Amino acid sequence: MMEQPKIAVVTGSNRGLGYAIARKLGHQQDIRVIITSRREAEGLAAKEQLVAEGIQADYHTLDVTDAQSIQQLANWLRQTYGKVDILVNNAGVNSSGHVEEASLLTAQMETVLSTFTTNVLAVIQLCQALIPFMKQQNYGRIVNVSTEMASLSLMSEDSYPIVPSYRISKVGLNAVTAILAKELQETNVLINAYSPGWLKTDMGGADAPFTAEEGAETALYLATLPDGGPQGKFFAEMRRFGMPVQLLW
Ligand SMILES: NC(=O)c1ccc[n+]([C@@H]2O[C@H](COP(=O)([O-])OP(=O)(O)OC[C@H]3O[C@@H](n4cnc5c(N)ncnc54)[C@H](OP(=O)(O)O)[C@@H]3O)[C@@H](O)[C@H]2O)c1
Repeated sequence: MMEQPKIAVVTGSNRGLGYAIARKLGHQQDIRVIITSRREAEGLAAKEQLVAEGIQADYHTLDVTDAQSIQQLANWLRQTYGKVDILVNNAGVNSSGHVEEASLLTAQMETVLSTFTTNVLAVIQLCQALIPFMKQQNYGRIVNVSTEMASLSLMSEDSYPIVPSYRISKVGLNAVTAILAKELQETNVLINAYSPGWLKTDMGGADAPFTAEEGAETALYLATLPDGGPQGKFFAEMRRFGMPVQLLW
């Protein structure tokens, strides 16, 4: 009897890094990838592109900031597949477009809050909705897409832009990773965060040195960790070192 494929949900997978991660996961024979996006037409188009490549893909709408939308996705997963094995929390916003983000002293509270809502609160809600599936089946891999600009140890480096709302939000995402890892330590649900590096996407811009495909490599590694693999760690992008290397929190 054919084994059921693993079900992998990637948030914000209509474009950019999320699409590249979904594509990489989908190229694994034993993974069926679920494209999600807040705008249906864009997500469906992304799914069709993957299906045209021979990838097993499905689609469901998801606005990560909408609790009802998260619940609808969870219900649909339960009804359609009865499980979820992999969650990649990729959807994110960057506050760098706001001039006030050049300093924490001028940052607008609206921007701090909206960035936090998408990059942190949404991840907490998604984990609350989907980790129960993983605990039930005693298998799960969660990948949180962070950034090395959120490393507290590197916060005073001159090479990074200030962008306080974005960096504070990703520090929050790293904390979510560490707290959940502690809670999940007796289970086979592994949660880790990684920094994909500076990528040529709408967020990263054309001057970035790496492609979204290159940024997706470490996500594939963390999403397919063997049992007993790392738990609650923060990884650098693998291509820089040719192997998984941990970043300082
Ligand atoms: N690019 C880089 O250099 C870089 C570096 C480090 C970390 N990252 C992280 O990598 C992740 C992906 O970034 P990217 O470069 O691919 O950015 P991007 O090109 O701007 O794509 C962001 C994705 O997130 C989705 N998204 C935003 N808010 C959403 C919401 N409320 N509900 C559902 N989806 C939502 C977007 O959907 P829409 O199309 O609907 O807007 C889009 O699919 C982010 O978490 C980012 O912080 C990126």
